[in-house]
Amino acid sequence: MKEKLLEIKNETIILINNTNNEQELLKVKADCLGKNSKLNDIVKELKNLTDEDRRIVGKMSNDIREELENLIKEKLNSFQSDKKSNLLFDVTTPIDKNTGTLSPITIVSNEVTTALKKMGFIIATGPEMETEHFNFEALNVPATHPARDMQDTYWTDEHNVLRTHTSPVQARTMLKYGAPIRMCAPGRCFRNEDIDACHENTFFQLEGMVIDKEVSIGNLIYVMKNILKEIYRKDVDVRLRPGFFPFTEPSFELDIKCLICNGKGCPTCKNSGWSELCPCGMIHPSVLEMGGIDSKIYSGFAFGIGLTRMAMFKYNISDIRVLNSGDIRKLKQFGIE
Ligand code: FA5
Repeated sequence: MKEKLLEIKNETIILINNTNNEQELLKVKADCLGKNSKLNDIVKELKNLTDEDRRIVGKMSNDIREELENLIKEKLNSFQSDKKSNLLFDVTTPIDKNTGTLSPITIVSNEVTTALKKMGFIIATGPEMETEHFNFEALNVPATHPARDMQDTYWTDEHNVLRTHTSPVQARTMLKYGAPIRMCAPGRCFRNEDIDACHENTFFQLEGMVIDKEVSIGNLIYVMKNILKEIYRKDVDVRLRPGFFPFTEPSFELDIKCLICNGKGCPTCKNSGWSELCPCGMIHPSVLEMGGIDSKIYSGFAFGIGLTRMAMFKYNISDIRVLNSGDIRKLKQFGIE
């Protein structure tokens, strides 16, 4: 019954994410939480269980109902505020053509999250000022681990940092939601870098994480190919190379076949035919355990897309500094109006 409940929860999250308006959402609510829903069928079966099972399954179904109701409420609010802002818009107002534009990073971030939402991912967030624990320890990077040297960190005080990556959201989400879970977390990261054409001290990543029974690297490749199809509007070839991260085992670097020369070799891909896109791997069992998840039952994968670099690929931007400059004229060069 527990399995069935989790299945119902995941199915309903996908249905909620795929709704486009209030009516569709209210229909999903009636179908999935109403009298004749599968969730209600389980509640009706509770009377046939032992006392102990009734207590556990009853609590679980209540928790799932509450979580789904909250998701529906949030989405309903967003539909209603869209409606209000449409009503408040005065159609006779002259349009100022220089009002600005979405940043290429926001555009790419929206495209990636849209692709992931269609696959049942929720969007999670975490603080930009992070604790040392979540930025490092909860990700299997203890104080003495040499991996801490990989990231030059802005420490705000003895125990807090400006997060160096979005991976702490993995640890936070495991503790908050448990397993199974599919989540993504776009957000700003900070590293004490020397700035050049490819490196900023403030840039964006998007963390992705799937935890379930029997999750494999094949699932990871499928998810990545789906994201790339949404962004580049065509099938993109990918390959995995071995990598190293303390929080994934095995770890990989995922490359895409160069979109400029189609794998033949050009200056953009340094004549290799491939461009590095994002690190990824199977979540380390210790990280699952620290997140309160039984690593003997569950496995998972995670990836960290460099959104800033992805926007550079998509719009052929050769210097990363353009993106934080806030200069609309520069963005217009890339056809973003
Ligand atoms: C990480 O930050 C890992 N947390 C990613 C990860 C997640 C691995 C989940 C495994 C599982 P890395 O340091 O390689 O990995 O950074 C990931 C991406 O962020 C890079 O590929 C790059 O696209 C982007 N990035 C890193 N540093 C900068 C920078 N200074 N400026 C712009 N983009 C950067």
